[in-house]
Amino acid sequence: MYEKIQETASWLKARMRTKPETAIILGTGLGRLTDEIEIEQTFPYSEIPNFPVSTVEGHRGALLFGKLGGKDVLAMQGRFHFYEGYPMREVTFPIRVMYELGIKTLFVSNASGGTNPAFSVGDIMIITDHINFFPENPLRGPNFPTGPRFPDMHEAYDKALIQLADKIAEEEGTPVQHGVYLGTQGPTFETPAEYRMFARMGADAVGMSTVPEVIVARHCGIKVFGVSVITDLGGFDNPVEVSHEEVQKAADKVQPKMAQIMREMIKRS
Ligand code: HPA
Repeated sequence: MYEKIQETASWLKARMRTKPETAIILGTGLGRLTDEIEIEQTFPYSEIPNFPVSTVEGHRGALLFGKLGGKDVLAMQGRFHFYEGYPMREVTFPIRVMYELGIKTLFVSNASGGTNPAFSVGDIMIITDHINFFPENPLRGPNFPTGPRFPDMHEAYDKALIQLADKIAEEEGTPVQHGVYLGTQGPTFETPAEYRMFARMGADAVGMSTVPEVIVARHCGIKVFGVSVITDLGGFDNPVEVSHEEVQKAADKVQPKMAQIMREMIKRS
């Protein structure tokens, strides 16, 4: 695995015209941020050696290099989900490559179902912590030399970046929630009983991504900022149907606000 990571990183290094220290995973809810990036180079995943290829509707697959908020950035347009069938080492492969390329800060976004009754559809939730409810930890297996065998996770989401996001949100007059994101494998949305269970476990929102990538980023010493768009609400008194289209629609609506916060954060961090 390590050789593959090295091979991919070398392939990219030989072609990159910039040397970004900031990476963004453009999940559901932030895909349009690509419109704001002054793109200099695009590498479709299918052309990058050893890169998995993403399959889900709404997730195009390419690695973008460009400028956002005046800074060089690397953006993943489309991510790899465990539910698509990728093993964890493939889900998190791009993060290991990012580390090799010199990435120091990772911004991640996703869409999630709110389990906190104080939340509404369309809320932006800054992720303060997570619960790994995936059936596997991405660090299972021989330890990579990027970090310890038993890595600390007491501040998976960087406190200073959270403070910066709060400040920017306030300046912009954009209300934000804070909360714990629970990552689960999907692809089913939760039953009402599962939403209730997750709420009791301490989750404010539940989704099918992010946690594996964040664990690996932290193992590499990469700082993380995470944000989630609440696209549906589950498990309250009156269970409602959830669909991918609805999730996409709700996420699309808040995109401009999310994008603005991210751009400002990158500019100032
Ligand atoms: N559950 C899991 N993943 C999700 C949800 C949800 O309710 N909404 C968007 N992604």
